[in-house]
Amino acid sequence: MSLNYTKKTLAHFQNPKNIGQLSKPDGFAQIGNAVCGDQLDFFLKVEKGKIKDVKFLSFGCASNIATASVLTEKVKGMSIAQAKKYPWQKIVDELGGLPQQKIHCSIMAVQGLKKAIDNYEKRQEEKAKPIAKTNVKKKVGVKKLKIKAKK
Ligand code: FES
Repeated sequence: MSLNYTKKTLAHFQNPKNIGQLSKPDGFAQIGNAVCGDQLDFFLKVEKGKIKDVKFLSFGCASNIATASVLTEKVKGMSIAQAKKYPWQKIVDELGGLPQQKIHCSIMAVQGLKKAIDNYEKRQEEKAKPIAKTNVKKKVGVKKLKIKAKK
């Protein structure tokens, strides 16, 4: 059975944009589909609330690669808030359509990107957390002991 891919889908499959990985990403996610067995990894660099760079690795089909390629092209430079809302339908439109049985590839691509953004946001929350009070007390306790020992 041959699938009716558009010229644009085939072009992105044969020459994907933003393929690869980023060292020390600000956000990372891996997503897979248990039914088809395909997988995507997303890597994000974020600066001033915008996606400065985004790359992906694919372990999947032609539309898995093409949809991630288009998505990464579109969201690069976008604010995190905008990128989170990027709909899978826009990917399908950008490619000029996808075979019905390949629509889920575009859905997985946006879910993977959102998961990488969630990962970025969780890391930011962790960085912003104050030092736990229990740790502070322990450190103070050690200092007091040292002072007493000097007297
Ligand atoms: Fe499942 Fe393409 S067939 S992601």
